[in-house]
Amino acid sequence: MKNIKNIAIILAGGKGERLGLGKPKQFLKFAGKMCLEHVIDIFYYHKKIDLIIIVINAKWQEIPKNIIKSYKDKKIVLVEGGDTRNYSTYNALEYLSKNIDSIESKDDINLIIHDAARPLVSKQIIDNCLEALQTHKAIDTAIPAIDTIIEAKNNIIDSIPKRDNLYYGQTPQCFKYKILKDAYKKAKKDNPKIDTFSDDCGLLLMYSPNVPIFIVSGESINHKLTKLEDIPLIDRFFQLRTTSIQSYDYRLLSGKVIVVFGGTSGIGEEIINIANKYNAKTYALSRRTNCDISKLKNIESALKNIAKIEGKIDIVINMSGILYKNHLINTPQFIINELINVNYKGALNIAKASYRYLHKSKGMLMFASSSSYSRGREEYSIYSSLKAAIVNLTQALSDEWRDVAVNCIVPERTLTPMRIKNFGKENPNTLLSAKYVASKCLDLALSNQTGIILCVSKNIINENANTHGGGG
Ligand code: CTP
Ligand code: MG
Repeated sequence: MKNIKNIAIILAGGKGERLGLGKPKQFLKFAGKMCLEHVIDIFYYHKKIDLIIIVINAKWQEIPKNIIKSYKDKKIVLVEGGDTRNYSTYNALEYLSKNIDSIESKDDINLIIHDAARPLVSKQIIDNCLEALQTHKAIDTAIPAIDTIIEAKNNIIDSIPKRDNLYYGQTPQCFKYKILKDAYKKAKKDNPKIDTFSDDCGLLLMYSPNVPIFIVSGESINHKLTKLEDIPLIDRFFQLRTTSIQSYDYRLLSGKVIVVFGGTSGIGEEIINIANKYNAKTYALSRRTNCDISKLKNIESALKNIAKIEGKIDIVINMSGILYKNHLINTPQFIINELINVNYKGALNIAKASYRYLHKSKGMLMFASSSSYSRGREEYSIYSSLKAAIVNLTQALSDEWRDVAVNCIVPERTLTPMRIKNFGKENPNTLLSAKYVASKCLDLALSNQTGIILCVSKNIINENANTHGGGG
């Protein structure tokens, strides 16, 4: 192996016993991808990582073997996992000692060791680690402790250490190759099973106490999947993280056939306007064009006509929705039915009718939810619970459809005719513009991602003031 400087070691040799899913937790899916896939992606697409080692039990190697088939631009190797976390690291070091010993500067090689169970590690953390490795030989990633940490034996408190000195340890943990190898050599000699430490920094501290371990700032979002309650937390972190989706060059829309249900007003209309500007072939459908999405036949015939004219359909976006604010018991039954028919049944109909076209084009289906979906509140019982169903539907379909991307946009309060009808005049500075939300929909449409629940909020606009220019 030549020109290797930075090696990522992904520890995926665990069984996930505390989670108890009957399979290792690194295979659990978030935002359309397995936990392990997210971790592979972040290292694969990081330009400075030269080699990726995945440590995983022989019994489970088929899954990563299939995942990495399409990763052709970087070398990824599978190494057998050990009985303990430290033994898994040891096996990776053994692999390296057999395969990189011929390189002169091997002592200088950087190892970036990361838990497969932390799918939200950011490029920023990896950058920080690599930078710190220029001046330090060992690095831990950690965040300051928030809770008071108590030391106790047999349920009796021994001490309450000062919180200012306490951190929660995360990964990556990074080392110069030789530093870690020497420590493991001593550990193995002392304790052949290497089963007394929970992580690599702990082992280094024990066997090479003279090597200072520098702390790099982690992120609370870099959370480890450990117990059942971590699943909804990590799901939500994925939703929050993707709010900063990058802007794309909208010239990429040229020639794409885009169908927007609810495309004759509000956000849908703005999507059509932007896409037209960049020479997409757009179709705006709504009741005004005699397409009632609560009727499957209406959608089928509309899509059939479009496919006949264009020969394909690349992107289907559903922006149609109705809002009727009231207490459930005061809402007439015909309105309840209409809300369900348009906001939920309509989405199911669009999904069913579009699949055959999107399957052919390897395209994308996009739904719209509302920020009210995550918290039910007074007068929104029907609307927001239906919007919660849309998020759930997106996650389910992105899992069911391997060849069609399915995503969902979740805008906060947006200035649209629907909003004005329900809320009257509001301070426009507190609302998102339909045009901005439309630009985020198109960024998502060009992103090639699936299973994304993209929250768009006013705060995010301010944070990303310089990044959303692209055509929006
Ligand atoms: N790990 C490993 N080899 C082991 C044990 C753990 O590579 N023998 C990895 C896990 O796959 C995980 C990381 O180390 O990515 C952190 O370990 P942990 O959270 O303890 O994961 P599991 O051991 O899989 O979970 P559990 O302890 O609940 O069984
Ligand atoms: Mg474990």
